[in-house]
Amino acid sequence: MSFFLCLFFLLFSSATAVCDRCLHQTNVSFFSKDQALQSGACGYGSLAIGFNGGHLAAAIPTLYKQGAGCGACFQIRCKDNTLCSKVGTTVIVTDLNKDNRTDFVVSRRAFMAMAKTGMGREILKLGIANVEYKRVPCDYKNKNLAIRVEESSQKPHYLAIKFLYQGGQTEIVTVDVAQVGSPNWAFMSRSYGAVWESSRVPTGVLQLRFAVTAGYDGKWYWAKSVLPSDWKNGEIYDSGLQITDVAEEGCSSCDDQSWIPDS
Ligand SMILES: *[C@@H]1O[C@H](CO)[C@@H](O)[C@H](O)[C@H]1NC(C)=O
Ligand SMILES: *[C@@H]1O[C@H](CO)[C@@H](O)[C@H](O)[C@H]1NC(C)=O
Repeated sequence: MSFFLCLFFLLFSSATAVCDRCLHQTNVSFFSKDQALQSGACGYGSLAIGFNGGHLAAAIPTLYKQGAGCGACFQIRCKDNTLCSKVGTTVIVTDLNKDNRTDFVVSRRAFMAMAKTGMGREILKLGIANVEYKRVPCDYKNKNLAIRVEESSQKPHYLAIKFLYQGGQTEIVTVDVAQVGSPNWAFMSRSYGAVWESSRVPTGVLQLRFAVTAGYDGKWYWAKSVLPSDWKNGEIYDSGLQITDVAEEGCSSCDDQSWIPDS
């Protein structure tokens, strides 16, 4: 057990370095072509288009966090009072933004959603908008966390999965897989973006356990039976659970009373 505590300390102390839930200022531009988002660094592919009504974002490296930031939600509101609503819009990170001039590049749909009703076309003409943003919990309503088996998986030697529809405001920091009923957990490692992999693949029906940053600490989740023994590449499986925790960050209070949640 001390191994895990130690691991936790290392993982969580680095994960809490940035105060994501504080209000940040930046400029935001948008992708002129939506297909840019389908080839996003997180590896969601064309599934991304269906997330959150297509309100997607590429985030700078400090928010992308080498893939740990994939699936994180941010509320963004622009500051032009004539064009922009006070609520703005909520985006999901699906890609890495390498352009250091803006913290995010968002989908055209998300950019337009920052506008007041009927002002969508006008805001697009700006091309770039001065905004405030902060991290917020992702809310998938009644949808569970799901696991997709990647096409790169090669039964029985190699398993690659990604997590979809991760609620709350946490990051998955470690993932293990085992046959249901077996104590022989095999650890998975982050391959890239939202994708985790292992070349020690148990047989039979598979269970997963994973840890997320939650509260000031970490929390284990146990998906007791996720992949059937005949799991198939390209299929999406229900984990039977959802994450709703919010990770606390060790930063001084930055809650803004004038902030209106986008719900
Ligand atoms: C946004 O862009 C404008 C114009 O280029 C610049 O003056 C301003 O400093 C930028 N704001 C931020 C927060 O980067
Ligand atoms: C942004 O990137 C450009 C090109 O790589 C570089 O010249 C510039 O110094 C960078 N700016 C900042 C603020 O890091």
